[in-house]
Amino acid sequence: MNVLVTGGAGFIGSNFVYYQLKNHPEDKVIVVDKLTYAGNLSTLKPIMDKIVFEKVDICDEKEIDRVFREHKPDVVVNFAAESHVDRSIENPNVFLETNIMGTANMMNHCRKYGDIRYHQVSTDEVYGDLPLDRPDLLFTEETPIHTSSPYSASKASADLLVGAYLRTFGLPVTISRCSNNYGPYHFPEKLIPLMIANALADKPLPVYGKGENVRDWLYVEDHCSAIDLIIRKGKIGEVYNIGGNNEIHNIDIVKMICEKLDKPESLITYVTDRKGHDLRYAIDSSKIQRELGWTPATTFPEGLQKTVDWYLANKDWWEEIISGEYQNYYEKMYGNR
Ligand code: NAD
Ligand code: TYD
Repeated sequence: MNVLVTGGAGFIGSNFVYYQLKNHPEDKVIVVDKLTYAGNLSTLKPIMDKIVFEKVDICDEKEIDRVFREHKPDVVVNFAAESHVDRSIENPNVFLETNIMGTANMMNHCRKYGDIRYHQVSTDEVYGDLPLDRPDLLFTEETPIHTSSPYSASKASADLLVGAYLRTFGLPVTISRCSNNYGPYHFPEKLIPLMIANALADKPLPVYGKGENVRDWLYVEDHCSAIDLIIRKGKIGEVYNIGGNNEIHNIDIVKMICEKLDKPESLITYVTDRKGHDLRYAIDSSKIQRELGWTPATTFPEGLQKTVDWYLANKDWWEEIISGEYQNYYEKMYGNR
């Protein structure tokens, strides 16, 4: 099978490419990535001879057409996206372009080249948020879409388009909506790697608001195994929620990271809250567990230890990132907060 992975030089996409090579060595993997600030070719360096890499923007009609013609994918898995909520608050437009128009462009080519199977990697953020004091409430696949940030609105728009291509054109599509991932190759603008990098440099650990917001954390490899099951055994037209059953307050994660790195909690600095900050995400993933037999393999304590160990062992990877353009980003986002 020829598997076309967009956004394969980013955090989850690259982990998925490694997962595919390990578990389906007979398949051909084609990676399409624009290499934005979030894409990193050094992540794929050890496997460059085992994959096809195309530096292409998913919005580029002509180039995507060429990629389909040359590499004849049997399935497309669309990870490519602008993915950071804080950046979407600063500049929504690029989120609309890549996340919506890019999705449409990929599906148009799936139609053109013979109704190729298409999987949209979506997010639990399309469901909005849940109250902190109602632990009984979880997002199911039937929860109405109700978005908060330009990021989640762009992802929700893409999901609606995917549904429309199924109903109008009969394109064989699936959608997965996953909770917060963590693990190797996570770009250091996101909570867990940012806190690890800052703690190691004895820099302040900027916690938004009171740190009471809750996310449901899933080790990235478990997200990859779920998507792999969906593209091979998932039912066309279905949405599958994916989640770790690991609801944790942000402040508790930051304290765990301090403890693991033997750094004082006095580094924790409460800063101005994110605009429109979602309070709590929590996923009911019983459908994919029941219908496809998926279960997460990594507990949160194991996963966090593996992640911290990975960042300690791979300083070159992230130190290079935070020494460049990231400095300007950090100053802009956190300088006066
Ligand atoms: P990321 O920001 O780490 O990586 C995104 C990748 O897409 C980068 O390699 C980037 O270069 C590439 N890209 C961006 N715009 C592109 C374009 N126009 N054309 C081609 N490539 C482009 O993101 P991530 O955290 O790996 O997220 C991957 C997907 O998973 C996204 O669709 C995101 O919405 C979804 N998701 C993420 C999480 C999470 O916790 N990170 C949770 C649920 C769903
Ligand atoms: P993030 O990793 O950006 O993921 P998302 O917003 O998609 O859930 O943030 C996770 C949580 O951590 C979110 O509630 C915002 C919070 N956060 C901080 O408190 N400080 C930070 O510096 C960052 C990046 C996030």
